[in-house]
Order: sequence, then structure tokens, then C-alpha cells
Amino acid sequence: AGLDAAGGQPQAAPAQAPKASEPLTVIYASESGNSEKLAGDVAKLARKQGFKPKVVDFADLDVATLPKAGKLVAIAATWGEGEPPARAVRAYGELMGEGAPRLEGVEFAVLSLGDTSYAEFCAIGKALDARFEALGGKRAAERADLDLDFETPAAEWIKGTLKALAPAAAQDNVVAVDFARAGGDEEAEPSRDPVVVEVVEHVNLNSSRSDKETIHLALAFEDGAPAYEPGDSLELYPENDPQLVDEILAATGLSGDEALRRSLLTERDITTLSPATIERFAKATGSDEASAFAAGGEARAWVEGRNLIDLIERFPATLTAEHFGTITRPLPPRAYSIASSRKEVGDEVHLAIVAVRYETFGRARSGVASVHVADRIKDGAKLRVRLKPNKHFRLPADPATDIIMVGPGTGVAPFRAFVQERRAVEAPGRSWLFFGDRHFTHDFLYQLEWQEALEDRSLTKIDVAFSRDQPEKIYVQDRIDQHAAELVEWLEGGAHFYVCGDAKKMAKDVRAAVVRAFETVKGLSAADAESHVAGLERAKRYQQDVY
Ligand code: 2AM
Repeated sequence: AGLDAAGGQPQAAPAQAPKASEPLTVIYASESGNSEKLAGDVAKLARKQGFKPKVVDFADLDVATLPKAGKLVAIAATWGEGEPPARAVRAYGELMGEGAPRLEGVEFAVLSLGDTSYAEFCAIGKALDARFEALGGKRAAERADLDLDFETPAAEWIKGTLKALAPAAAQDNVVAVDFARAGGDEEAEPSRDPVVVEVVEHVNLNSSRSDKETIHLALAFEDGAPAYEPGDSLELYPENDPQLVDEILAATGLSGDEALRRSLLTERDITTLSPATIERFAKATGSDEASAFAAGGEARAWVEGRNLIDLIERFPATLTAEHFGTITRPLPPRAYSIASSRKEVGDEVHLAIVAVRYETFGRARSGVASVHVADRIKDGAKLRVRLKPNKHFRLPADPATDIIMVGPGTGVAPFRAFVQERRAVEAPGRSWLFFGDRHFTHDFLYQLEWQEALEDRSLTKIDVAFSRDQPEKIYVQDRIDQHAAELVEWLEGGAHFYVCGDAKKMAKDVRAAVVRAFETVKGLSAADAESHVAGLERAKRYQQDVY
């Protein structure tokens, strides 16, 4: 699906006067904030068109109320291997489960966000779309399944969908609305436009003998930093590896084309591959062999760990510059959790970025943005960035509230911001950090700063887990197990709990450790301990920022 899927057929309803305010429920399942942002866009535009929109996070969704939604827009991200965003798990499960309410009389439309480089592209949006229909709802507009470059097609989809959802008699009024201008008079939000910043600090936080390289970046905003809060992220517009670009150009016979070289460096995603990429490649090159391969069963497994250069090597072809525009998707920005508080660093933003380097199929590979930052950026360089707010990862409103922070590796970044902020406001609440990495001597990110924070009391406690300093692995969740009684005591006293870092395993293992703590310390059953932690999540006292 895509642009052409947007804006389904409005049903032939009897002409009626447009209601003064047509209720519209916009539900969203968001992990990194994109679906949430789009839900806000839907509401803004809908309001201009005479709807009365209500925006509800899946985290807060009572599925029993959906039959009364009337008109329903759902925007859902798919995460990891076809999973719903963490905060959406409960409501999503209820909707898919046997107790889900019937939705006769509900007109719905689903927008799904995903990433074509993962196997289960847009699985959650697809499942919701089918489910709403199975429950008796009426699809008002076709679903669109959008990749990382969702912004323009999402705006189109929203326009078309609101048109389809509008009462018949109101259709004419709706068409003329200019999406780009809608919402301009909403309450002031920090600017989300990309700006160019200067790198004023670039240091490796690991020792030279570490097998990791974590770059601390300080970025200066000439015209004042955007009004970011601890917990927000910064998107960085990277450049591809020039060596890889040159290899691709050489392999396709396009080495002399400077304009294409520039475009492949800065604009096109040349490091992810999906069966859809192979299909587009096959079409562009007219290769029957590639076409058969794309359609066959092994393509999905083959693309794992490979990218465009592998495809070109497997199916040698002469390409034109235009072909690259259709084969590749736009190069998306990468988001990093901000590691500083404006109260301490003024008009700067600090980031901690670990260089991603690995080898697959005999070829050295690298993370686009992280290795760009590690290898090709130095003091004085310029970078294009954009603020990505995250209101689901926030310090407690009351600085007297205790906080527990779990951030192994670069997951510690937002907690540096939290501690800076709590120092600046002289927060009376206690703070407890769990940090982990491979080796104490090489990988203790920001070690001196934590020591200072312990001295000035902006940090109350730190527990560390260095996984490779002993024969058996020790992880942050093992430290949580060891300190279960105290952890439960803090949580029962009202502490907020935060996890940042790896989504695939760490965040799940940590959550399991917190559930376990309630079992062992409070003698709860597994089910009761689980629902206790789910309660903390609903109360927004258990928050995560994972990737
Ligand atoms: P490892 O690389 O030795 O397995 C930051 O990357 C730290 O997180 C490292 O010490 C890493 O250990 C550790 N880590 C890896 N998997 C983890 C998991 N499932 N839970 C917690 N920490 C993990």
C-alpha cells in the first residue's frame, strides 16, 4: 500500500447537514513517538474540519468504550519482530482476545507504521485493520502501510481518510483544507524543523583498549537549543560510508556520476534490504532471475545481514542514476536519547553514540549514523539534527519523588540528563542508577561524573554489572535480583522506574526481574506480581525508552 491506497470510497450516505461537531476517536500505539505525532496531526486537521477529535494512547485505552467511538482512526507502529509497542501490549491483547467488544456502527480507518527491513512489516496495523472488520466495524478508508519515510504519505492518508470519514454533506468543505497549514495556531511546541549544529566536543568514552567505541558528542545550537526536556531524543541526519558508495557506483558502472554520488551519500538508504527492495531492483533492471528470487521463499532469510551491494553482486546489472531513486528508500534520520539537561549545558545537546561495526558474509558492515559520527565527524564539524520529543519518558513532576534508572551501555544516556536536571533543581528525591557494560576498566561510561554526582547527592546509589569481567555473565537484572527488597521498598514508597537501552532482550529481562522482585519480596503469585507491574506502567511510574 502507499499513497494510492489512501482515501477510500466514502459511503453513499443520505445527504444530511454536517453536525456541528462529529465525534472522532483517534487511538495510537506508539513506541518512539511517530504514531503519537501522527495521531496529533489527525486531531489537529480533524478539528479544523468540524470533527470533535479525542486522542487516546493504547496505554490508556479502555477497549469496552470502542463501540461508542463512532468514527475511529487507529495509528499503530509495529516493533521488533512484529510486536506491538510495549505500552500498547495490554489493550492490543484485549482487542485481539475473546472479550473484545463488537464494533457494529463503528466506521474505522487504520494507518500502520513499520520498517520494511524487518520481516513482519506493519504486522500490527494489518492485524488491527482485519480485527476491526471482523468485529463488525465498517472500513471507511483503505489502510496504508508506511515505511520509515512515512511523513509525506501519512499526511496524504490523513487528508483522504478524514474526507472519507466526514458526513456526506460535509464532503465539499473538507477538500480544500491545506494540511501543511492546519494546526499552525496550536499551542507552542518546541520546533521540530531540522537545524544545522556544530560539534564542539567529540570524545571516545571507552578506553583505547576497549572493544567498544562510544562517542560523547556535544552539539552547539547557534540560535539557541530547542526547548528539550530530559527524556527527549535528537534525530541525526547521517551520511553513508563513502567507501561503500564508491563500491556501489563501481559495481554498477556509474563511478563518474558526482550528483548520484552525493545523493547516495546523503539521501538514499543503501544499507538495508528487504524482499521489496529486490522486487524493485528486479523491475528496474529487468532481471528475470532477480524477479524470481524476490518472489521465492528464500529472499526473506537472504536479506538478513546483507544490503544493496550484496544484491548488486549477486545480480550484476548496469543501472542508471534514476534506478537508485526507485530501488532505495530515503535515508531516514536516526534518533538518540539526549544525554544532557539544558539547565546544566545551556544551548548544547549531548549524545552518547556507540559505533556499530560487525561482519557478515565476509564483509565489514557498519551502522550508518554511529560510524559516521565515530569516523567522519570531528570537533568543528556540522551536523543536521531535529528534536524528537518523548513525553512518555519523563522525570516525575514532583522532584521529591525517588527515581530508579536502569541503563546499560548507551542506555545510560538519558539518565545523565535526569541526574543533571535533578542536580540543577536540587531535587530532594533519591536517585538510584543501575549501569552495565562489558568491562569496568574500559567501558564505565561517564564514571567520573557518576562519582561527582554521588558526592553532590544528585545521585544516591549506583549499582554496576560488568558482564565480561568474570567467567559468568552479570547483567543489570542480576543486580536488581540482588537488591530486590530495597527496590520494592523504593517502589512502594512511590519511586518511578525507568529503563533505557536494548528492546529485544534487556528491557524484557529487566521487567521480568522487577516482576520477580515483587514475587520474592512480597510473596505475590506470578500473576499478581505481573499485574502489579502492569499497574505501575499504567500509572506511568514504569517507563521505558528502548530501541
Ligand atoms: P554482553 O555484551 O557481555 O553480553 C551493554 O551493552 C551491556 O549490556 C553489556 O555488558 C552487555 O553484555 C549487556 N547485555 C547484553 N544482553 C543483555 C541482557 N539481555 N540484559 C541485560 N544486559 C545485557
